[in-house]
Amino acid sequence: MGILSDVAGHPLAQQFQTLGLGSQIAIAFAVFVVMSVVLNVASQIVFKNPNEPPLVFHWLPIIGSTITYGMDPPAFFRENRAKFGDVFTFVLLGKKTTVAVGPSGNDFILNGKLKDVNAEEIYTVLTTPVFGRDVVYDCPNAKLMEQKKFMKIALTTEAFRSYVPIISSEVQSYFKKDADFKGKSGVVDIPLKMAEITIFTASHALQGSAVRRKFDTSLAALYHDLDMGFTPINFMLHWAPLPWNRKRDHAQRTVAKIYMDTIKERRAEGDSNKELDMMKHLMNSSYKDGTPVPDHEVAHMLIALLMAGQHSSSSTGSWIMLRLAQNPHILEELYEEQVKALGADLPPLAYEDLAKLPLNQAVVKETLRLHAPIHSIMRAVKQPMAVPGTKYVIPTSHTLLSAPGVSATDPLYFPNPDMWDPHRWEPNAVNAPTIVQSSADEEKIDYGYGLVSKGAASPYLPFGAGRHRCIGEHFANVQLQTIVAEVVRLFKVSNVDGGNTLIGTDYASLFSRPLEPAKIRWERRD
Ligand code: HEM
Repeated sequence: MGILSDVAGHPLAQQFQTLGLGSQIAIAFAVFVVMSVVLNVASQIVFKNPNEPPLVFHWLPIIGSTITYGMDPPAFFRENRAKFGDVFTFVLLGKKTTVAVGPSGNDFILNGKLKDVNAEEIYTVLTTPVFGRDVVYDCPNAKLMEQKKFMKIALTTEAFRSYVPIISSEVQSYFKKDADFKGKSGVVDIPLKMAEITIFTASHALQGSAVRRKFDTSLAALYHDLDMGFTPINFMLHWAPLPWNRKRDHAQRTVAKIYMDTIKERRAEGDSNKELDMMKHLMNSSYKDGTPVPDHEVAHMLIALLMAGQHSSSSTGSWIMLRLAQNPHILEELYEEQVKALGADLPPLAYEDLAKLPLNQAVVKETLRLHAPIHSIMRAVKQPMAVPGTKYVIPTSHTLLSAPGVSATDPLYFPNPDMWDPHRWEPNAVNAPTIVQSSADEEKIDYGYGLVSKGAASPYLPFGAGRHRCIGEHFANVQLQTIVAEVVRLFKVSNVDGGNTLIGTDYASLFSRPLEPAKIRWERRD
């Protein structure tokens, strides 16, 4: 009582009471912020738990390091790794997030046991409204493993043989029809073009010609609306009745219905066509217990596959074109490689031809090393996890974050790591990776969707590792290699100013991609 009346009687308190309500609220808020900052800083200094990884210093509670991380995740990882080593924690939107990098960090998180780590708890809020119910992260992990098996089995060599001519003809007809490629030369914003080429080639190969035709009318706009649901803000606002979420929900229902109607039509017609698309395979698959995959799950898996591949492949395709514009001599080498391996008349590309074009393959591989579209892979921690070789135990209140891009750009494994050098993948190259793992030595494991290499010792994992590893790797490689081979036949590309600069990376969306506009100059080959 005595203290309170002393405070109330203090000249400062008396002055405060004379202020208007607005000023009083502003001052109270400022005091609250200062106190929170002081308490937050004090708690970082006083409460250091030696059994938990070091915490990246931050002034503001909740916001923590969200802004510095979000602006440039790879720079954030590099800087803090230099300070703390391979394992450290930072605050991301109020959540303690532990990063573990380097080959052992990748292994610790990506090959984590099912009882310890969980992906669906993190991703479901974002993916389920976009993909639909009962697939991928809206079902138990064992069911996802079966779904991945269906998808993987469909991607046979025979299917790939049929996809290469489909992708080639889509690319050729795109460049014939697109208004921005009229004439002998011009300038284009390449990410817009690569996004269209990616969705046309993937939908035609994976979903069949009937679905592809619908992309010229209804489907392209609907996928655009679905895409709007795939933004980082929706980790928090996925439920909110906001205009983009309403559009997302309408688009999800409409796209799923289009697929389900197509499935019904194909069943009714006896589906005698020879196409080896994913829809045909999934609508004829059954779970281990004998239950046929229901039509709504087929539809939702098709949405998931197209969305999973779209951002990653389209961003990679754009980076390839930007790198070729920065290094026109490599594009000429690619052209010469085709002439030499396939003949000066450049016959129509076949699946088997891709293996005869090692530089063409290396261009994709090297671009994924420097521009992997998925910079952060997250897992919820289900049980306290001891980090091998350290005294740290990660509690269940933390999220784990894997960033395989860190080891892919580590000078320990890749000499001159920041140099885009597709030739480094050739034997005995100057910049050849210092650890080259022979595939025979790699440990293989089956999580329920076929044997995959564990990747435990590999510093290069653009397609992830473990039970959530990408099943689209081979498709993405075939798609990108075919697109590049076709572009090289038609065009030469260069930077608009003729120099060798490269545009920066946009990390604001979920997948990293070139900042836009990202323009390049093209010139038709005669
Ligand atoms: C998973 C990368 C293309 C389908 C993943 C993961 C990565 C990745 C890093 C692991 C995610 C995690 O562990 O949380 C890429 C890259 C691509 C690409 C770099 C292209 C350059 C594709 C394509 C498809 C696809 C074309 C479909 C045809 C999937 C699926 C998963 C996956 C179904 C499994 C998700 C899970 O099990 O949780 N991808 N991907 N991806 N990707 Fe890809």
